[in-house]
Amino acid sequence: MINKVIFSLIVFISLSFRSLTEQTPEEIRQKGDKITAITGQTLSKSVMNAMTKGGVSEAVKFCNLAAYPLTDSLAKANHVSIKRTAIRWRNSKNKPSKQEKQLFSAFELEKQQGKISEAKIIKQKNGDWLYAKPIILQAQCQVCHGKLGETLLADNYKTIQKYYPKDKAIDFSTGDIRGMWVLTFKN
Ligand code: HEC
Repeated sequence: MINKVIFSLIVFISLSFRSLTEQTPEEIRQKGDKITAITGQTLSKSVMNAMTKGGVSEAVKFCNLAAYPLTDSLAKANHVSIKRTAIRWRNSKNKPSKQEKQLFSAFELEKQQGKISEAKIIKQKNGDWLYAKPIILQAQCQVCHGKLGETLLADNYKTIQKYYPKDKAIDFSTGDIRGMWVLTFKN
């Protein structure tokens, strides 16, 4: 009896601590979808709260992953690094790598073909799992990423440019692929 209990405990523990190399792409997809959903909601809520309080000049600090301890704790608990990237970036720190550019283009192509893209899961050479998913621009994002002089007011853009003089992340419309989540599940 005791042997049986111990045996089941060992099976249970080894299953929960399975190394990442043994995880299936489907498991990575599910984890990634959860992490990006939680992080995206947190970002979006905080940006909107800040907008209500102090307009764009207040909210400009909050569309930044680094502003959230939650992202850190999620990342640590899941042994994953969480990044947002974009071809037309606002912060040069978010520039895409060569591989990320290719993934971004693949998502763009799928969108042009009218396909709804789900995340792409890729096994890297070093055994890490990469999870990439498009970030779609929503109506409420346009105040800071929209069409200059239309959805993005010139005054607000001046504020943004004070912090990000090299910004490329404007002239987006609702439904466009604004950027991409990239999670790296470390081996
Ligand atoms: C109040 C202005 C504001 C709003 C509203 C806003 N953003 Fe941003 N966004 C920014 C700023 C500022 C950055 C640069 C953050 C940084 O320094 O990493 C940024 C960065 C990003 C990035 C990272 C890539 C890059 O270009 O550097 C993505 C992706 C993004 N925003 C998507 C969105 C989406 C989607 C929404 C709507 C849900 C949104 N943003 C709403 C101001 C805003």
